[in-house]
Formats: sequence, structure tokens, C-alpha cells
Amino acid sequence: MTETFTLAHFSDVHLPPAFGSGWRHWNAKRALGYVNWIRKRRRVHQGVIANMLLADAVALRVDHIAITGDLINLGLPSEYEAAHRWLKGIGPPENVTIVPGNHDIYSSLHGDLGVARWAEYMGGENETLAFPFVRRAGPVALVGLNSAVPTPPFVASGRLGAHQLEIAGEQLAKLGEEDTVRVVLIHHPPLPGLAPPRRALSDAAHFAHLLQRGDAELVLYGHNHVSRVDWVQSRSKSIPVVGVASASAGITHREEPLGCYNLFTFFKSETGLRIRHVVRGIDEASGEIKKISESVLTPSLP
Ligand SMILES: [Fe+2]
Ligand SMILES: [Fe+2]
Repeated sequence: MTETFTLAHFSDVHLPPAFGSGWRHWNAKRALGYVNWIRKRRRVHQGVIANMLLADAVALRVDHIAITGDLINLGLPSEYEAAHRWLKGIGPPENVTIVPGNHDIYSSLHGDLGVARWAEYMGGENETLAFPFVRRAGPVALVGLNSAVPTPPFVASGRLGAHQLEIAGEQLAKLGEEDTVRVVLIHHPPLPGLAPPRRALSDAAHFAHLLQRGDAELVLYGHNHVSRVDWVQSRSKSIPVVGVASASAGITHREEPLGCYNLFTFFKSETGLRIRHVVRGIDEASGEIKKISESVLTPSLP
């Protein structure tokens, strides 16, 4: 029997800052982040672009949407609330899964709920969260990791930590006993060398080591605002590790392209798993959405 399932992968939406919070949440990190938004990022990240791309995915009748973090910018309570309304507009939690990015877990919150407002979209309920989480969507098991930790100004690094790595390893191995496609969601580039130390996952080497056990079929990430495919070799297979550009980029910025998203179609049959990978995004010439690239990712035996 052949089973098909489509998963759209968005990231780094960076919705415009929403205000309404008291002064107690403002500090050097948020003030500098806001200056960066005003001087540079507000021209790049345009919510209308992300909404156009999401509408495109919905029109293509994707089965599930995954968003690998950086929904907001400064980690203000009003931003979490605005992003929650935006999430609800995309779809119910059973159709949308997110993991947090460094802009979603940004700085001290003084007891505010923060990303816990989005718990239903991260496998939690009643504003409680636990990472890693496992969510089922058709033949896919989404394993959501939290790589975001509050950092000082000018630092955007991440960390999984020994406990999360250990639990993720156990969960992925257990899921391997089932006939399921294991898709890992993480914000930071999860392999060594994919980001400079100031922006990197500090325990990427540990995570890469975990992947070398072969207990995943696909890894998705954001953060770098560029699209890219790498492979992790294990004894049993090659695992594609796929990054995606910002979904809201309305202009190009340095090496960052216009907004796009990944569209994966999983074909499972007795002969194995094939993953069709299409990048859909804004065409620079026409301003319309088109297919940017297409390939087939086969987590094959080496
Ligand atoms: Fe980002
Ligand atoms: Fe990020």
C-alpha cells in the first residue's frame, strides 16, 4: 500500500512587534533588538508575504504545517498574544506544529507566560510545555525540540542540553519500532559549522552524534534565513537535514532570499520511503509564488 502525506515547513516569520506591554519588560536586549528592527528588519520581514505563502500551502491542501520558530522579535507579552491570534488564523493545533526560536525565548519575562501561550501548538495543553514533544500527523511523528534560551545582547546562540538530548534519543529510538516517519523540528541549525558561534547551537556536535544512530528520517530547521540541504550519514541510512529561508522576506537581504517555504510529500511503500522536496517562494521577477526547486530526498542505505 502506498501512503502519501504532505507537510509544509515555514520558519522565521518575525511578525512585526506589537506593543502594549509595560516598561518593566524593556531592557538592553529588547531595546537593541527594536533598533535592529527599525533600522533593518522591518523592511525585510513583511507579514503579508508570510500570509501569501501560507495561503498557497492551504490552497495546495497540505496535510500539516510546521513552523520552526522566530514567530516574533522582542519577546514582549503583546507579541505572544498577537502571534497566538495569527496562529489560530492559520489553523487548529491538530494541523499546525511549532517549535520556539531565539526571538520567541528572547530575554527575561518577569513571570509572564511567554511561549506557553502557544502550548497547544507544541504538544502541550493548558499553557504547560515539555520538550521534546511528539505529535502524530498521519504517517508522520513530529519530534519538537527547544533550542532557544535567553541570551545577552548580540548573541543568538541556542542549546538543547543533556536532558533534552537524552529524552529525544529515547523517543526517536522508540518511534523507530513503529512504522512511522520521524521528522525532527528544531530552530537552530543542528549540525556543527552551519552557523558562527555567536548564532550557533552550542551542542550541535552532540545532536549530530545522536542523528548518526539513524533514528530519524528528516530534520527541519530555520534561523539562518537561507534554504539548504545537508546529510547526516549513519550505519543504516542518510538523513536529510533541511533549512528554510524566512517565510516573510519581502526584499532580499545579504544572502537571504525572498520568502519561501518547503513542501514535503512522503511516499511510503513496501520498497521504502521517498520524500519529494519542493521549495515554493516569491519569484523575484513577477512577485508571484512559484516553484523554486524540486528534488527527491531518499533516506537510503549508504
Ligand atoms: Fe530568524
Ligand atoms: Fe533565529
